[in-house]
Amino acid sequence: MVRKPKTITIRRPWDMHFHARDGEAMAAVINHTASVYAGGIVMPNLSPPVTTVVMAESYMTRLMACLPADTKFIPMMTLYLTAKTTPEDVYAAAKSAFIYAYKYYPKGQTTGSGDGASSLFQCLPAIAAMQDVGMPLLVHGETVHPGMLIFNKERHFYGMNGELARIIAAHLELKVSCEHMTSVEAVDFVKNHGANIVGTITPQHPDITINDVLEGGIKPHNYCLPIAKEEADRQALFDAMTSGDSKFFLGTDSAPHGKLDKESACGCAGCYTAPHSLMLYATMFEKANALDRLAGFASEYGPKFYGLPVSDETITLVKKDYSVPDSYEFKPGNPVIPFRFGKTIPWSIAA
Ligand code: DOR
Ligand code: ZN
Repeated sequence: MVRKPKTITIRRPWDMHFHARDGEAMAAVINHTASVYAGGIVMPNLSPPVTTVVMAESYMTRLMACLPADTKFIPMMTLYLTAKTTPEDVYAAAKSAFIYAYKYYPKGQTTGSGDGASSLFQCLPAIAAMQDVGMPLLVHGETVHPGMLIFNKERHFYGMNGELARIIAAHLELKVSCEHMTSVEAVDFVKNHGANIVGTITPQHPDITINDVLEGGIKPHNYCLPIAKEEADRQALFDAMTSGDSKFFLGTDSAPHGKLDKESACGCAGCYTAPHSLMLYATMFEKANALDRLAGFASEYGPKFYGLPVSDETITLVKKDYSVPDSYEFKPGNPVIPFRFGKTIPWSIAA
């Protein structure tokens, strides 16, 4: 008897954190996200950053121009929070039909964070307005503190007396998404707060530790920020992701950079996972014997947080080997190397 391959069909998932980039780079990669996901949160860390409704609308128009005319992909635009963001800016964003959140980039901590504030406390009028209108605040949760070890910045941000605990204590209704969590402290923070505090999990952070970045030679394609941490952190993320708790949902933080910009004396941070992210997640859910929980994490909890319906389309994954390509076209003469390039994943997307 010929056994049918194992399959799983879920509503089309949402990527609640990805970097679309711009121009020819965006044109080269956007379909990797749009062909898998129903929609997703488009990060605003362009140069210059997307800080106004007008800039976001123009960015959205450029993005949609890269997709087929009949695409159903929903780009969920975000604005970049700065120390200069006013309550009026937030009210204008809330009125627009296509802006879903503000994103906090701690100054100097990651790609395109030069215009960010050095602390959420520099953004209090805007944060109060966000709470007022129910606009989610998405945080890159790392403390800006000269000399603080890179390993401790996220632990400190989410710690007992850290920045976010104090902000939330003063804004009890504020909706916050703790983006690309990498530590036990971040996971505990989300678990220990109400339904208005959620967190996204990338495919790499429940899978790798700092050893996969540094042991036996530097692996630039495993380097992203916040940086992968210790085994206990990896395990906490893996457990949170596969627990079925609706506070944790899918956000790949897929962040393409050219090979030359990563394999460099000062390499850029970011793992490129858009094409195979769903396969990576499915592999981990199967490992946890929790494939029945993939749909919640990937397709349901994210849109629920943002007040969107689940997709009316489905996608099917098949238990069939997928070979991750060595590279994809990105910029002229400067391709992007995906996370886990050249490796095999035991789940594929059905044709
Ligand atoms: O690794 C990262 N890459 N982390 C970020 O926060 C930004 C992102 C990017 O835009 O490249
Ligand atoms: Zn990101």
